[in-house]
Amino acid sequence: MSRSPAHDPHLLGGLSPAAFLATYWQRKPLLIRAAVSDPSALPDGAALAELASRDDVESRLVTAFDGRWAMEHGPFDRLPRRKRDWTLLVQGVNLHDRAADALMRRFDFVSTMRLDDLMMSYATEGGGVGPHLDSYDVFLLQVEGRRRWRWRDRRSTSTRDRMLVDDVPLKLLKHFEATDEAVLEPGDMLYLPPSCAHEGTAIGACTTASIGFRAPSWNAMSQEFLFTMAERSWPDGRHVDAGRAPSRSPGAIDPCMLAAIEQRLAAIRWTTRDIESFVGRHFSEPKAHVTFDPPPPRSMGAFIQRASKHGLALDLRATLLHRGRNGYIVGEAFALPTACRAAFRLLADRRRVDASTATSMLEDPQARALLHTWWSDGWIHVAGGPIDGSS
Ligand code: SIN
Ligand code: CO
Repeated sequence: MSRSPAHDPHLLGGLSPAAFLATYWQRKPLLIRAAVSDPSALPDGAALAELASRDDVESRLVTAFDGRWAMEHGPFDRLPRRKRDWTLLVQGVNLHDRAADALMRRFDFVSTMRLDDLMMSYATEGGGVGPHLDSYDVFLLQVEGRRRWRWRDRRSTSTRDRMLVDDVPLKLLKHFEATDEAVLEPGDMLYLPPSCAHEGTAIGACTTASIGFRAPSWNAMSQEFLFTMAERSWPDGRHVDAGRAPSRSPGAIDPCMLAAIEQRLAAIRWTTRDIESFVGRHFSEPKAHVTFDPPPPRSMGAFIQRASKHGLALDLRATLLHRGRNGYIVGEAFALPTACRAAFRLLADRRRVDASTATSMLEDPQARALLHTWWSDGWIHVAGGPIDGSS
């Protein structure tokens, strides 16, 4: 296993990841002053407006003009001219911007599988999305300008705490009573566990980045897993009852069909390996709207030459996971090539390998074939190349 780059002690307010996880993670909010020293490397309001005009980027516009809440989904050709009370939210900025990806990766001390995305908002004076709860952990980093955050120091569990305002297009809390508040300046960050009510209001124009995590529901996981297992067991089978006995009571549950269904369900089996494979494929799968940009066709020779000189990096949209001898990339399973398993694990953990590691990987025929396919699909690039996949 490769070690992560050294932890920046400012990121968690002087706490080590282990100390933060033991005390705050999923438990209580933490306000961290001067957590990030270079937030200005992230996209600004103009860059966010540009992203929000693209149809492969998820965006929303929340307005509260004259006290009336409204929400629209992007893409947006233009944004309101008004000087206050609106917020543009851009989801998955990390998929398009290297600085956003690099910032999000600083939080991978809780595993790539838990990271969801880096969302950014640009708000005008008074702008915000109102008091609400999120069902996931989030780090709210102030990037530009100032924002007043008000939050509750404990998770909302009662029905009253979770009641929503009627007839608005957003999930706004009816009864929001903050216990804490703070004005965040650029570089300051607020960590909130799931279900901690909060509300952010822009003080002048400002941008905020949310590093959001994901925690799949057991329901969703089991449905998808069982569906996959059932499909594997009975790809397109149907009930057959040739030679069956006549029904005496047509309204009764048909014993012949009941027995057949029970037999088929009882025969669905899985192993620990099936679970791992499902988890690897599921968590390396990109979100539905994500597409890759394959590079212009080039020979294997040219690819090897450039990769051996510069190293290799995963595309911003690609996730590579590993466990033991197995790897998973963009929803597909593969066997880690025996001769260079450690190098593939390094690529998964650090998202890049240097020139000498890439050279040794490319000397192995199995690894070379995999890497060339991934490169042709736009899943990896020659390191340092443009993020549009043309390298
Ligand atoms: C925002 O950036 O305006 C909203 C972020 C959040 O409250 O989760
Ligand atoms: Co929120």
